[in-house]
Amino acid sequence: MIVKSISVRNFRNHTSKTFEFGEGINVITGPNASGKTNIAEAIYYLSLARSFRGVDDEEIINDKTEYSQIDATVLEGQIKRNIRILITKKGRSVLVNGKKVSKISDLAKSVNVLLFEPKDVMLFRGSPKERRNFLDINLSKQFPIYLDYISRYEKALRQRNEILKSQNVDEKLLEASTELLVKYAGPIINYRAMFVKDINDILIKITRTLTGVKEKIEISYRPFVNMSGDYQKDALAAFNRSLENDLRHKATSIGVHREDISVSLNGKEIGAYGSQGENRLVALALKLSPYFMITDKDKKPVVVLDDVMSELDKNHKEHLINFLRKFEQVFITDTKLEIEGATQIELNK
Ligand SMILES: Nc1ncnc2c1ncn2[C@@H]1O[C@H](COP(=O)(O)OP(=O)(O)OP(=O)(O)O)[C@@H](O)[C@H]1O
Ligand SMILES: [Mg+2]
Repeated sequence: MIVKSISVRNFRNHTSKTFEFGEGINVITGPNASGKTNIAEAIYYLSLARSFRGVDDEEIINDKTEYSQIDATVLEGQIKRNIRILITKKGRSVLVNGKKVSKISDLAKSVNVLLFEPKDVMLFRGSPKERRNFLDINLSKQFPIYLDYISRYEKALRQRNEILKSQNVDEKLLEASTELLVKYAGPIINYRAMFVKDINDILIKITRTLTGVKEKIEISYRPFVNMSGDYQKDALAAFNRSLENDLRHKATSIGVHREDISVSLNGKEIGAYGSQGENRLVALALKLSPYFMITDKDKKPVVVLDDVMSELDKNHKEHLINFLRKFEQVFITDTKLEIEGATQIELNK
């Protein structure tokens, strides 16, 4: 996919700006606070109709105004789509070629964006939630039914936690909600396991390209129940084992909502042992992996890299830039960066 152009109105500090982008690498430069990340945010917003900064829409709207608007032209091979997103304090609306889109999954089909943001350096050091989000977002994009399973699982989880919190726990109801958790956790685990297995080979290749050395890298996922036996029986048994604990804490302590993935570099946990630079490169490699799972060239995601270069030495920067030349379209923000052959966009403070 190619984002050909984007016009933003009242989007954070940008009152009115239009940018024309190129295929391949686009570099967005400018001093601190010139609005580079805000442009990255607008491009990401096209895909999921939400910010990657985890903020309410209201924060996006320029302080002095009441609404924000993004207009973009996106190409998927020969298919051209005009996307308009209007953000007001009361809500937002999304139009693709003039037609209203109410399901975000439909928008995500029109614009697929892979993002690396500064806080991803902490991906392996932070909470498991960030890593689960990575799995859940990418699996949902690839397999809409996965999102369905997650929604159903979460609904059952909320019900189970409600029951656990009640004065007199209704055992029959508790049992029924546990059975629902087991039912939806099964396919979720299978999807996660398949994804992690597929991504492992890609991750090895990307890391080698980025570091230039033959590092031994491995991603692993251990579901809360061993899938090699009788799943139904084993999963119910696992919930039974933690029942006492769950009743005491009035919350469900095991399940796919508590799972995690881990990555090791040369046999050692990257989060605990890796340097800052290694964490950055491996997190970037992981976040870019889904790009290589999509085989249709026209559907390749747009890659947005906010502040990815900082802390990388000259050698690693060169490896990274050469690697990025392979992608259909990449956006890199940096205070100062020039890349030969790239589309350069300069913002002024
Ligand atoms: N709703 C808003 N209305 C007006 N200005 C805003 C709004 N939200 C954020 N800003 C301003 O936008 C400016 C640019 O922010 P941005 O994070 O895009 O800068 P940047 O170019 O990425 O800087 P850095 O190099 O430090 O990462 C900030 O000064 C911020 O105060
Ligand atoms: Mg920034």
